[in-house]
Amino acid sequence: MSPTSSKKFKNPRAKYNFQGRSCSISGVGSYVPERILTNADLEKLVDTTDEWITSRTGIKERRQAAKDEFTSDMGARAALSAMQKAGVTAEQIDLIILATITPDMPFPSTACLIQRKIGAHRAAGFDLEAACSGFIYGLEIGQQFIMSRTYDTVLVIGAEKLSSIVDWKDRNTCVLFGDGAGAAVLQNRPNSHGLLTAVMGADGRKADLLFMAGGGSRCPATAESVAARQHYLRMEGKETFKNAVQAMQTAAKEALRRCELDISRIKCIIPHQANQRIVDAVGERLGAKPEQLFVNLHKYGNTSAASVAIALDEAVTSGRVQRGDLILMVVFGAGLTWGAAVIEW
Ligand code: ACO
Repeated sequence: MSPTSSKKFKNPRAKYNFQGRSCSISGVGSYVPERILTNADLEKLVDTTDEWITSRTGIKERRQAAKDEFTSDMGARAALSAMQKAGVTAEQIDLIILATITPDMPFPSTACLIQRKIGAHRAAGFDLEAACSGFIYGLEIGQQFIMSRTYDTVLVIGAEKLSSIVDWKDRNTCVLFGDGAGAAVLQNRPNSHGLLTAVMGADGRKADLLFMAGGGSRCPATAESVAARQHYLRMEGKETFKNAVQAMQTAAKEALRRCELDISRIKCIIPHQANQRIVDAVGERLGAKPEQLFVNLHKYGNTSAASVAIALDEAVTSGRVQRGDLILMVVFGAGLTWGAAVIEW
């Protein structure tokens, strides 16, 4: 029995938890590329300053994958680390869900490329696209397969090579993003780290706030689309910021409400690592203390679907969360999409 089990909170999954079937996170892992790109490096690329980037975002540096290092490579490394910590072999994996907006290529799915790299030949696999919210979407979907007894072991990965879709001439966006990957193994292990609830949301009416126009059926790659720089992401920063703060606080409150938990009961809040000002604003609106918030965006920038997965691994590895602690994860991304999850570690 975990240390907090005696404390009172509602497990919204309990009503589905027939015949003792629950979903737990049996291992987490992450990987970031070696190369560090500092704000000083960016000062040489675009008209910006360390002072502007730090004061507007909190980001000091980010990681950049090598030319021959792809989303599948980073995802595979994070997956192997999570599997090792979970004590799970490649043969045991039933399903691989990869959240990404930067697949190695349009098809086959990068989940299949990761399956090959880690040798999980029994596993089904697919890519999931919910931008920065992808990891929480992945946890929720993976959990459904565990709870329904369809699968015993699901690997959920968030991995991105955002440096491949960032316009290195656009100072509005190129300072914000980084590369990396995080992963979690989901299983039915009673009395292990439990996923108590997950909230998902979307608003396609605001799809134009953050997008990449080129490369799909609407705007296939042509000499013109390349010349018009349509294969890079574009973002309306201010509007995205406002929507992020609103959606994240709403999702977090809904997740807490479902578990009948007050924010003071949460040991560690892991928000999407996009901008320190967003983290602070969400924390304030939730009535959280600054020490409850986990932040690593100063080191990695916004790694989209990998963001909260890397942060979860770091929070666990650093001892910031201990067995039985309650964790609140809350995310926001293009789509628009958002989500939140409560985990009993
Ligand atoms: N260096 C110097 N100046 C800059 C830079 C830069 N890197 N970038 C923009 N500026 C300038 C702008 O040109 C503008 O100048 P102007 O007033 O002369 O036009 C000025 O700084 C202010 O720009 P704003 O856009 O108003 O700056 P803001 O304070 O809103 O910060 C930022 C911009 C950091 C992008 C912020 O809006 C933000 O973080 N938005 C949310 C991003 C986010 O959360 N994304 C999540 C999803 S990501 C995903 O799903 C993949």
